[in-house]
Amino acid sequence: MKTVSRIDDLRRRCDAARAEGAEIGFVPTMGSLHEGHRSLLRAARADTDVVVASIFVNSLQFGPGEDFAAYPRDLDTDSAMAADDGVDLLFVPSSAEMYPTDPLTTVHVSGLTRGLCGASRPTFFDGVATVVTKLLSIVGPCRAYFGRKDYQQFAVVKRLVADLDLPVEVVGCPLVREPDGVAMSSRNAYLDGDTRARATVLYEALSSVVDAVQEGERNARLLRDRLADLVSREPALTLDYADVVDATTLAPVSGNRRGDRGRGRRRRGRRPAHRQHDDPRRWR
Ligand code: PAF
Repeated sequence: MKTVSRIDDLRRRCDAARAEGAEIGFVPTMGSLHEGHRSLLRAARADTDVVVASIFVNSLQFGPGEDFAAYPRDLDTDSAMAADDGVDLLFVPSSAEMYPTDPLTTVHVSGLTRGLCGASRPTFFDGVATVVTKLLSIVGPCRAYFGRKDYQQFAVVKRLVADLDLPVEVVGCPLVREPDGVAMSSRNAYLDGDTRARATVLYEALSSVVDAVQEGERNARLLRDRLADLVSREPALTLDYADVVDATTLAPVSGNRRGDRGRGRRRRGRRPAHRQHDDPRRWR
């Protein structure tokens, strides 16, 4: 594995690999790698010839008072994991390399970024969209792997790639959970023992809603209320949002969703791993 820190160096190496006929798989990360990231690295390794990963804690996607300074950083451990998972090129730029001056150009994906996580983090998706656009322009034509844990981010990246005609195939990979069902996340490190134990309520609530859907419930308001009610029974948690939205537009779904029974039947067929839906109970 070669570690590079300069944009021109990475661009030159990616161009050279493609000139030899290689397909590039790209996994952007902010480091503090866990099994979720590693599943993306392994998917890229299985699908493509040259695997590029980036580690860059992107200041632009942290709002004032958020955890930019505290965000966990451990380059030695991350590098060892990346090498172990077959990464060929590890891009670790400094902030000065990525943002030599405060950028006057940013990328804003409207509509998709207003609700859900965007409601409480109004600048987050502009920061993500800007850095992802920069990284994809540096790496060039590739397959880029994103976790569907951050589903809104995945939808935003897919849309910006389509809108800007970037020569990139965006691949969404399944969420990876801890044995007790909590989604793996670098930020789980912030949870103390008691809060961490209570976090399983999110998984239990989601599983209950999946059960209801599989039993035939299609009323979006009832499903959303059930989710909100189950989470709010845990007094230690404050619910940010619970919603039922369209998977592409992220627009709230109201009433009964037409045609879902047919779609449900199709979904049960065999699908490639990265296209499977994220039924929380698959990790139980
Ligand atoms: O999901 C993340 O780790 C980040 O938002 C990303 C996509 C690497 C952009 O900084």
